Amino acid sequence: MNNFCIDLTGIPEVVVNSDHMVPIFFEQFQTQAHLHLEPEHINPEFVYFLKQHRLTYPEIDVINVRPNQHTFVHSDNDFLDDMPKLNWIYGGKASVMNWYEMRPGTTVPEPERNAVNGYRIRWDHRKLRRVHSQPVQFPSLVQTGVPHNIFNGAENRCCVSVPLGWDRGNGQYSKFQRPTFQECAVMFKEYIGADN
Ligand SMILES: [Fe+2]
Repeated sequence: MNNFCIDLTGIPEVVVNSDHMVPIFFEQFQTQAHLHLEPEHINPEFVYFLKQHRLTYPEIDVINVRPNQHTFVHSDNDFLDDMPKLNWIYGGKASVMNWYEMRPGTTVPEPERNAVNGYRIRWDHRKLRRVHSQPVQFPSLVQTGVPHNIFNGAENRCCVSVPLGWDRGNGQYSKFQRPTFQECAVMFKEYIGADN
């Protein structure tokens, strides 16, 4: 096991009727590479699974990486962070996610807005060193608060991504009240696949 990506089995799929929905996502990707999953397409069994672990989420992201695309290096919050997410990958055969650490003397760049009005930090890959690469599975617990990117193979890739936060009883997500990656790894230990 590592601190970047842990494959999980037995967690309810977040997208309802994904056989029908995922081709629709790929249609939508022709005009927009980053969508939100509409509430009516979220599996109630998945929401119940989160509730059992006292977890909640803000928005669920649906993100495209085109065939053979290497995405720019970014981290998913407006500061360097520990930010666990559950990611499901459709398509994207032979894609890998890469994680990076800052080379000595590197400072954290200013954050910017992403396509769906969230924040991210865009990094200069020359100021980073790659420390881990791994294919994301169905789902995997992934660390998105540190610099990362995707190298895709020849197949179009759709990632459905759920940021995890503590539910303090009102179902509201707070970016300051989130479990760490390691807390999630402990919480989900019965779902960790044998291949990790
Ligand atoms: Fe990301």
